[in-house]
Amino acid sequence: MTSTASGQVRRYLPAQRLIHWVGVGSFLILLFSGLALLFPPLAFLAAGGLSRLIHRLAVAPFILLPVLYAVLLPHQAKELLLESFTYTRDDLAWFKHMPAYVLGRTKGLPPQGRINAGQKIHHASTFLMFVTVAASGFVLWFGVGRLGPDGHALTAMIHDLSVLGLSVLMIGHVYFTFLYDALSGMVTGFVTEQYARMEHLKWFEALAAPVAVAAAPASTTETPAEAGPAEPPQP
Ligand code: HEM
Ligand code: HEM
Repeated sequence: MTSTASGQVRRYLPAQRLIHWVGVGSFLILLFSGLALLFPPLAFLAAGGLSRLIHRLAVAPFILLPVLYAVLLPHQAKELLLESFTYTRDDLAWFKHMPAYVLGRTKGLPPQGRINAGQKIHHASTFLMFVTVAASGFVLWFGVGRLGPDGHALTAMIHDLSVLGLSVLMIGHVYFTFLYDALSGMVTGFVTEQYARMEHLKWFEALAAPVAVAAAPASTTETPAEAGPAEPPQP
């Protein structure tokens, strides 16, 4: 087995963590500057067009996220996309267990791969709403004067519904991060072996595959993703 003396398992590379936190930062700036534009009680925050300027500046890092991921980590980006949109019987079994999981009960949790079924839903919905929020945002931006009142109302509604969806997803995402003490994966890059076994047993067991073991340095356990394009065998 590929567990380490310190009981830590590598989960995310530095570039993955950097991209995630740039994403969180730009998302929160877009959210708060956008809310200042939307809600009259917050209008004082938009005085002088500052919120509008901040909103447009934050678009740049936000829109670059998938480009950065695809260029810096092409193998991991493909893996993340494929996994997020691929559902199996194990995922169905996980969904049956979900009410208990939401309450923090993991006894009898069906074994999961690198990302569990709930995370698949989160990631896949995030990617889809990334497209709708960005497309509607650019139409609002560059379609000024050409959309007409109905076109503007429809585009703003798509933008606002995407923002609402992404915000609800973020609340769930942060809730589970803290409920299951998963933050370290995105901060240090490592999680405890206990966490890896409990949440992602199939992924953890796949680390024992010869290709991952051969590539692993003595002090830590490497993820299959780091071991290169060779896919770990799925039990
Ligand atoms: C590529 C991404 C995005 C682009 C190009 C974009 C662009 C825009 C534009 C042009 C507006 C109209 C206000 C203005 O004239 O400045 C707007 C409004 C707004 N945006 Fe974005 N935005 C993007 C992403 C986001 C994200 C991720 C959020 C929230 C997390 C967000 C939240 C809002 C809100 C709440 C409003 C006010 C909506 C309204 O007035 O109905 N935007 N955005
Ligand atoms: C303060 C807010 C946030 C915290 C504390 C947080 C925390 C985390 C953690 C701990 C993980 C790793 C989970 C694992 O080990 O499987 C993760 C992954 C992820 N988060 Fe967040 N997150 C936050 C906000 C967001 C937001 C706003 C988005 C999208 C709009 C987002 C999208 C993602 C995605 C797509 C992944 C998977 C990344 C990958 O596999 O490369 N997160 N997050």
